This record gives sequence, C-alpha cells and structure tokens, in this order.
Amino acid sequence: MNILFVNGSPRGRFSVTLQSCLYLEKRFPRHSFQYLNAGAGIDAFERDMAPAASAFQAAELVIFACPVYAFLVPSQLHRFLELLKEHAVPLGGKYAATLLTSKHFFDVTARRFLEENLHDMGMRVIRGLSADMEDLLTEQGRRELEDFFEYAVYCAENAVFEKAPPAPAAAPAVYAGRLEACRKQDGFDVVIVADLREGDEGLRALIRDFGAVFPYGTRFVNLADFPFRGGCLGCLSCATGGKCVYRDGFDVFLREKIQRADAIVYAFTLRDHSMGSRFKLYDDRQFCNGHRTVAEGKPFAYLVNGSLAGEDNLRCVLEARASVGHSFLAGFASDAESLRAVSMRLAFALERGYTPPRDFYGVGGMKIFRDLVWLMRGMMREDHRFYREHGLYDFPQRRWPRMLGLSLLGALLRSRRLRRVIGGRMNEGMLAPYKKVLEKTDRRIKP
Ligand SMILES: Cc1cc2nc3c(=O)[nH]c(=O)nc-3n(C[C@H](O)[C@H](O)[C@H](O)COP(=O)(O)O)c2cc1C
Repeated sequence: MNILFVNGSPRGRFSVTLQSCLYLEKRFPRHSFQYLNAGAGIDAFERDMAPAASAFQAAELVIFACPVYAFLVPSQLHRFLELLKEHAVPLGGKYAATLLTSKHFFDVTARRFLEENLHDMGMRVIRGLSADMEDLLTEQGRRELEDFFEYAVYCAENAVFEKAPPAPAAAPAVYAGRLEACRKQDGFDVVIVADLREGDEGLRALIRDFGAVFPYGTRFVNLADFPFRGGCLGCLSCATGGKCVYRDGFDVFLREKIQRADAIVYAFTLRDHSMGSRFKLYDDRQFCNGHRTVAEGKPFAYLVNGSLAGEDNLRCVLEARASVGHSFLAGFASDAESLRAVSMRLAFALERGYTPPRDFYGVGGMKIFRDLVWLMRGMMREDHRFYREHGLYDFPQRRWPRMLGLSLLGALLRSRRLRRVIGGRMNEGMLAPYKKVLEKTDRRIKP
C-alpha cells in the first residue's frame, strides 16, 4: 500500500514523532512510504502547493504524524490544513489516520481537531494513535505502534472508517449588531487581543460592541499587525531562561502588553473548527512561558465571530485553557445577548477578584505538568522555580494524620463485627469535619 506520512512537526527531521514513522517503514517493508514535510516546510507550501497535491494523489493511506502543541496541533500544520482547503486539494475518499506524540496533555482535543478537518475534506478517517513521546523507547510502545499501523492498513483495505460528524446546519452566523455605548469607569486594564484582518467586518463589529457595553475602557492588540518571524520551532531554547530564539520581540510584547492586563478578551473569527492558524501561532509562541500559569486569577472572555454550535471540541479547548490557567472564563460572546452577559460576568470577576477552583480539566492537566516539570527540572529551571514557589509540587502527599486515620479505619473495617458497628456511623464520621466548619461559621452581615 502507498503510505504518505505528513510530518506536521516544526522540528522536521529532528521530530520525535517522525521516529515512529521511520520505525514503521523499517518494520513493514512490503509497503511503500513517502514523506511530506508539512510542518518545517510550511513556507515552501505557502508559495507552492503542487508538490503536496501530487504526493496526496499517489497515497492510498495518509498518516498525519505530529506533536500536540497547546491543546491542538502546531500552527504550521494548522496552516497546512488551511492551505489544503484553500487550494481545494482533492482528498475526498482517501483514507487518513492521525499519529500523535505528546505528554497526553489534551492529546484528545488535538486529535479531534485534526479529524474534524480531515472529515471536512471528505477523507475517510481511521481512528489514530496517541502515544507518549517516549513510547517508542519501550517494547510495549513499539508493539502498540505496530498494532496501530496494522489496524490502519486493515481498515483502509476493508473500507472501514469513522462516520463523519453531521455538517453544521447553516453557515456560521456573522455578527451584525449595533449596541449603544454605556458610561465608562476607570480602574482596570482590559486588553482585547484579536486576529482582525481586512474585510472581517463581523469581528470588527463584535469588538466595537463589546467595547460599547463593557463598563470599563479597553485596549486593543491586533495580532495581524505583529511582525511574527514564524511559528514556535519546538527548539526548547526558552526552557532555561524564558527567551525565544526568534528576535521579533514577541516574548517582551506578550509579557508587557498582554499578560500585565487585569483581564484578557480574545476575539477571532471561527474558521476550520478553531481560531485560525495565526491565532494558533500566537498560542504556540506562548511556550516561552513554559508550563507556568502566569495569567492565574486573570479573567478571560472570548468574542467569537461565528457560531460555536457543533464546535464542542473548540469549546472544550477554550474552557480547559481557562481551567488549567486557574482563571475565570466569562464566556463566549457572538451576539448581542451574549455580549451583554459576557461583559457583565467579566466586570463581576474583575470587581470581586472572582476565580473559581480548577475543574477536572485543570486539576488533571496540572498533574501532568507537575510530573513533567519535576522530571525535567534540571532543564526547565524557570518552570521548576515557579512550581516550587507556587506550591505546585503537591507530592508526595504528607498528610500523615489523615492517612493514619484512614489506615486505622481500614484495619477496623476488616472485622465483620466492627464493620456492622462502624458502617452505620460512616456518614456521620465523614461529615464531622464539615460540621465543625459550619458550627464555627458566623452569619454573614450583608455589606
Ligand atoms: C510549543 C509546544 C507546545 C506543546 N504542547 C503540548 C501539549 O499541549 N500537550 C502535550 O502533551 N505536549 C505538548 N508539547 C510536547 C510535544 O507534544 C512533544 O514533545 C512531542 O513529542 C514533540 O514531537 P516532535 O518532536 O515530533 O515535534 C508541546 C511542545 C511544544 C514545543
């Protein structure tokens, strides 16, 4: 079978993910393998998509091999997908699978994003593989990789593929409202960060109307104007000192113009199940902050030109980012009603310093980061310092009295007689510390 690996890593031939492809090529010599350097070679495809089109034409099974970057895929691959669509490269009916490597931090959303786009182009999607970046170094990882490949070939040979999700009912609505401006108060620095281009009138109107209904003044930063030298290269040069290898001033700009704000409002036009590759480039370049939750406690909001109906994956990415960062998400505004609601929620969060606790996305995500930073602390020095200072190394758990108490309880419960006696009092026992808090709590005097 003719297999095409689309290497979506900006690290090109130094890609970890690519090593899995090369391994498969060695293990399955009866197939023919081609490679397309979509990530590192994106500038060339920007000029000419013909080589990509002919590589796809010959392929019977396309495997999109790439790392997970910031909950999705690298901005370079993101752009490559846009180019495939813009140039209408004929991919309908071709079999496609994804091969991701990562630390499993939101690999699910990256896979879904890729699959959504492959479905858009009419490809026949085969369930892919999401491996830890070190899996290839283990016997089990290599076996799982081979099994996945055999599974993908089997599916392609037998016309077995995932059902495409239902297409959105209508074209995404474009905002066309006009809201009255309210009186402004001073007190907070709120920045609107957008990817606003010529002719994007819906987004322009959405930003204007948010500025009108929001009770505080806002500043505007247009990513379309920032002279980015390129997408994150995954070189990890920033890991020790937080400084990016690109000399385009982005890290300083990010820290001084955006992260210093009291609240951040992101604004984008929905395209290809995301915020577009330019915004993704901005997201990836924030890797100069490593795994540090530098915007902790700052509320966020999104102005989305287009409908998020049916875009559950993107919604999940944006909600999870807020939760991991331990920030309040004031919501998504795409029409007059939601603009008002988001504006009011954001104002409340700013005025009260409202930051709800992390949910599953944030708690789970931070445990992955914690373990990663701990393991790599010799290299990720800035991250390590931040995690130590912020008490993010919550292991090993040294809650001795609690652990001792529970061990004692476990020992007692092993006796059938005691189990009967204690069993009836378990609920009371569990609630005892909560009751103590309630007893000590004074009635709140209304301010
Ligand atoms: C900018 C950047 C963002 C990343 N984001 C994630 C992420 O969201 N989740 C994750 O598990 N790993 C993330 N990683 C780790 C990579 O996915 C992982 O190292 C991958 O194996 C690299 O593959 P490659 O060498 O083929 O590019 C990120 C790495 C970089 C450089």
